[in-house]
Amino acid sequence: MGAAKLIRQLLGTVFLLASATCFAQDHSASPIANSPIERGRYLAAAGNCLSCHTRPGGEPFAGGVAFETPLGTLYSTNITPEPETGIGRWTVGDLQRAMHEGIARDGSHLVPAFPYTSFTKVSNADVADIYAYLRTLPPKRYTPPANGLWFKMRWPVALWNSLFFTTGRYVPDPGKSAEWNRGAYLVEGLGHCGACHTPRNAFLAEQQDKAYTGGVIRDELSRGKVGRWFAVNLTSAKHGLGSWSVADLEKYFRTGVSSRAGTFGPMNEVIVNSLKWLTPADLHAMAVYVKSLQAEPYAGDRVPPELVAAGASIYKERCEKCHGASGRGGFFSGPPLAGSAVVQGEDPASLINIIIHGPSRAKGVSYGGWETMSAYGDVLDDSQVVAVSNFVRGSWGNQAGPVSPAAVRSLR
Ligand code: HEC
Ligand code: HEC
Ligand code: HEC
Repeated sequence: MGAAKLIRQLLGTVFLLASATCFAQDHSASPIANSPIERGRYLAAAGNCLSCHTRPGGEPFAGGVAFETPLGTLYSTNITPEPETGIGRWTVGDLQRAMHEGIARDGSHLVPAFPYTSFTKVSNADVADIYAYLRTLPPKRYTPPANGLWFKMRWPVALWNSLFFTTGRYVPDPGKSAEWNRGAYLVEGLGHCGACHTPRNAFLAEQQDKAYTGGVIRDELSRGKVGRWFAVNLTSAKHGLGSWSVADLEKYFRTGVSSRAGTFGPMNEVIVNSLKWLTPADLHAMAVYVKSLQAEPYAGDRVPPELVAAGASIYKERCEKCHGASGRGGFFSGPPLAGSAVVQGEDPASLINIIIHGPSRAKGVSYGGWETMSAYGDVLDDSQVVAVSNFVRGSWGNQAGPVSPAAVRSLR
């Protein structure tokens, strides 16, 4: 196998939480707390260490979450302070090297499914606080299953790093407010929002010139089946979050629901295990930063008028009751589809998933008066899912291209 192909396969894997599980763990703490442990608990929540390091039914932070890849399965590690199977022998410097450079204590390269490409921006002081917090966890003796052959051979990651990764802490922009800089620090660093929301190149590196314009990831579709999702365009383009205000974003981060949308897919864990634990001031700062992201206007195809028309009757029969004839939704029925980033996704996967499989509602999130949307996979055939998708993508000023039957079939 050629080096380029090997690197691509090794890293091509990178996203793919095989198992989306939410944990009700109290990691709330004030960031102004003057104990390093309490600060560390808060920062670990901001970095969502829990979601990726806790397997379904397993001990918190003991690892073993499976990341599916074409080269086999990669398992997250045990980060409890157990000396043999966890990181009990690690120094604070070892954790800094792992988070900033992607290098483990034994000198081996970590695979960027661990988002060190974002964590490199986190300050030394914040990593030290996370270290202090991790030391307080009950040590758990657990060794994740062995990784496949290709992950034992980690040199391609070094090559990939030399091509696509620059280590370095976040540098504040003096031209921007302290609030904006705090938001940027959290979104780009611990929040690793770009790991899902930034598109990747052929080598699966984030394309920084298209930062936050939406990326394809793999995650659970329903009942343990894994498939593609589109992590939407977060810029304020019309086909992104143009219709969201700073207050909408802040409310969505804090509660999982705003008048614009409710969490229903891979975002569930981000809300439940991470964002909902952050302070209003930090969530506001993140919203301010997200709202400032550079927006490129839509330049792709449009759904041809005859394909839009073909889905009108299905929409009227199945969707209009909650999302409205004008696509504006309703306070007691559902979110708007006019201006929705999910509906207008460059890749329609998340739109198709909610139609076929229905929303997976996040535990502990209140959806207010919104009635739960059903799964339409059994009542609509592929061509009807295509038709209603084209209808919502081409109506009310929405900007998006047509959906193909193959895209729908692949998500069943
Ligand atoms: C998106 C998923 C994801 C998130 C979020 C994540 N990790 Fe990990 N982490 C992984 C995976 C996967 C590995 C294994 C990488 C490998 O084996 O190459 C890993 C490996 C590590 C390692 C190396 C341990 C060892 O024994 O070599 C450390 C340390 C670590 N993570 C700490 C953290 C901390 C601290 C956080 C939160 C600030 C965090 N991780 C958040 C997925 C994640
Ligand atoms: C594990 C991948 C992943 C990560 C990490 C992630 N997102 Fe998402 N996000 C998604 C996906 C997929 C959706 C589509 C809807 C859903 O899952 O509910 C989404 C939806 C959203 C939406 C709402 C869009 C809508 O109309 O429903 C916002 C806003 C958002 N993400 C912001 C963020 C921010 C800010 C961060 C970082 C703190 C972040 N996301 C981290 C995958 C991710
Ligand atoms: C019973 C009311 C109801 C019906 C009928 C309904 N939905 Fe929904 N829909 C909702 C609610 C409520 C949400 C918010 C997510 C949640 O509740 O988990 C939602 C979310 C969505 C979203 C995500 C929007 C975003 O930006 O995050 C899309 C897309 C969507 N619905 C499309 C449809 C389509 C297409 C149909 C018809 C095939 C339909 N819905 C039928 C209530 C409904």
